Amino acid sequence: MTVPHPAPGEAPPRPWALLAELTHACPLHCPYCSNPLELARRSSELTAAEWADVLRQAAALGVVHTHLSGGEPLLRADLEQIVAAAESAGVYTQLVTSGTGLDEARLDALRAAGLRSVQLSVQHAEATANDRIAGRVSSFAAKERAAALVRAAGLPLGLNVVLHRDNLDAIGALVDLGVSWGVDRIELANTQFYGWGLLNRAALLPTREQLARARETVERCRERLAGEVELVWVVPDYFDGVAKPCMGGWGAVSLTVTPDGTALPCPAAASLPNLDPPNVRDRPLDWIWDHSPAFARYRGTDWMTGPCSTCPRREEDHGGCRCQSYALTGDPTRTDPACALSPDHHIIHTLTTPTAPPPRYVPRRPGAAPRPVP
Ligand code: SF4
Ligand code: FES
Repeated sequence: MTVPHPAPGEAPPRPWALLAELTHACPLHCPYCSNPLELARRSSELTAAEWADVLRQAAALGVVHTHLSGGEPLLRADLEQIVAAAESAGVYTQLVTSGTGLDEARLDALRAAGLRSVQLSVQHAEATANDRIAGRVSSFAAKERAAALVRAAGLPLGLNVVLHRDNLDAIGALVDLGVSWGVDRIELANTQFYGWGLLNRAALLPTREQLARARETVERCRERLAGEVELVWVVPDYFDGVAKPCMGGWGAVSLTVTPDGTALPCPAAASLPNLDPPNVRDRPLDWIWDHSPAFARYRGTDWMTGPCSTCPRREEDHGGCRCQSYALTGDPTRTDPACALSPDHHIIHTLTTPTAPPPRYVPRRPGAAPRPVP
């Protein structure tokens, strides 16, 4: 989506989507998780009343859609109150869940509170492989039950699959699984390397051959399922030579609020140096969106350096992803190395041409990440 950025003195565009990370607690341990290595403590989480206030303010700012995410949002015993607050603010809710902990009574309560749709994650089409990647026994069975409950409740159901070396060859079976579970939409998202995903990048990166086979399978499935199930393929930017239009632009269409109330232009932005992100406990959301230096920092195109600053694609892809530029070059203002025009593109080439066998994953779990060298 191309969003015109404001002329000097003009108000920025209005956001329409809020990613509400209700908790970083999670019963699963997926190695590709984009949550930060330093997971927020439960004692620091916003209360339901604070989330209700955030949702009211978000609606006043223009937000019409929220992903209630985590971690695992079902671990919030007050999730129904948060859903009800979104509903009364006129914000459409989608629950983003692993399915673990969803039973009929909970789904009934969430639907009564106003829940509009569910997005269910799955790690593999085979139960054993799914449970191994998720790091939890019987998690596949929980997903299967959750899918059946959501369908029986008549709510729209989407399947989200994060793709990597360990499940890319099962892509056809994953699509068939979604069809057999009666989903409306399947999102096949090649891993984005942030947080735990970045830590595990060498273990997760697929081979070019795997990706080529997967692409062909997706095309065949698209033809077969046209008009029945929507298939979304999220590009593997490390392999395509094109920068993704990350977040539809910085501070352009959406914002993230983390479990402790930190407001971010994207879920990974807390990793950026000297961003000093604001917190909804300290500042109103309209100030955060319109006036905070963190949201203004990479809005529009004025911050760009070459080659983005003169590139005809700069209004479409926004120069790619700031967090990726920082992770790969140490400078968030550089052109995203995923772009073939970037002077740093050789970094991507080296990463995608490994010379050693992939290492084992570090499962996402508090305290599991190696401590940074001081
Ligand atoms: Fe996009 Fe920058 Fe690459 Fe141009 S040089 S295609 S604006 S990332
Ligand atoms: Fe932060 Fe892309 S994830 S700008």
